[in-house]
Amino acid sequence: MALNQTYLISLEAVHYVPDGVDVLTDITLRADERRIGIIGRNGSGKTTLARIMAGLIEATEGRARIAGADVVNDRKAVLRHVGILFQNPDHQIIFPTVEEEIAFGLTQLGLSKKDAAKGVAAVLARFGKGHWSDAAIHQLSQGQRQLVCLMSVLAMQPKVIILDEPFAGLDIPTTMHLRRVLDGLDVTLVHITHDPEMVREYDRVVWLERGRVEDDGHPAGVLTRFEARMKQIGDGDDLSHISG
Ligand SMILES: Nc1ncnc2c1ncn2[C@@H]1O[C@H](COP(=O)(O)OP(=O)(O)OP(=O)(O)O)[C@@H](O)[C@H]1O
Ligand SMILES: [Mg+2]
Repeated sequence: MALNQTYLISLEAVHYVPDGVDVLTDITLRADERRIGIIGRNGSGKTTLARIMAGLIEATEGRARIAGADVVNDRKAVLRHVGILFQNPDHQIIFPTVEEEIAFGLTQLGLSKKDAAKGVAAVLARFGKGHWSDAAIHQLSQGQRQLVCLMSVLAMQPKVIILDEPFAGLDIPTTMHLRRVLDGLDVTLVHITHDPEMVREYDRVVWLERGRVEDDGHPAGVLTRFEARMKQIGDGDDLSHISG
């Protein structure tokens, strides 16, 4: 449909109902903004939505498109257009050395070994990490491994990078450093977080609550309402809100 293709990110009436459990309900999102935050409490469906947008799981109903490509039917385009950075780098890393890890995505895109090696060298040089090339990944710290994952994603030059709580477990200087790197990227970011501070300066924030879009708009309004609601829930003694 021509209408969807005008948006870089397009979710149309997405439902995700594994084994009859309503995890995501009727999510429609059409976005062209460069900095998009997705905010919500634990268990609200953020990671599930990220996985659907990256084509890692399939919606029960509805469809997701990135740059006009259906994420389920056009795997090649999705690989090219979308990168995803998970909270825990160890869920992402599969190879023993930095070079192999970064090269993998490039060879998946169809690059020759030689061109992949060039791409690896270029991204390492960009971050001043040329000396990491042969480093054993398990000897790097968590923050360093997270940077390897980011470099792997960037090497593939995606149009959209989905970040799923990328700073959890990182110290303040590492977080500040990675945030600066991300802020400076000429790419669309979809940043998933439960922390309003991470997305306050963004162009748009979508608030997920129990698998539905509760609010969507400019951060000033959405985050004010989100924070008021979170405080109200936190002030109460009822623990039944903790899902699961
Ligand atoms: N395949 C599945 N079958 C059943 N329930 C699922 C499935 N996948 C996710 N869920 C449930 O959907 C809810 C949303 O999970 P999700 O991981 O997307 O939340 P989240 O917003 O990322 O939470 P957090 O902030 O804790 O990371 C959870 O209650 C989870 O248990
Ligand atoms: Mg999550």
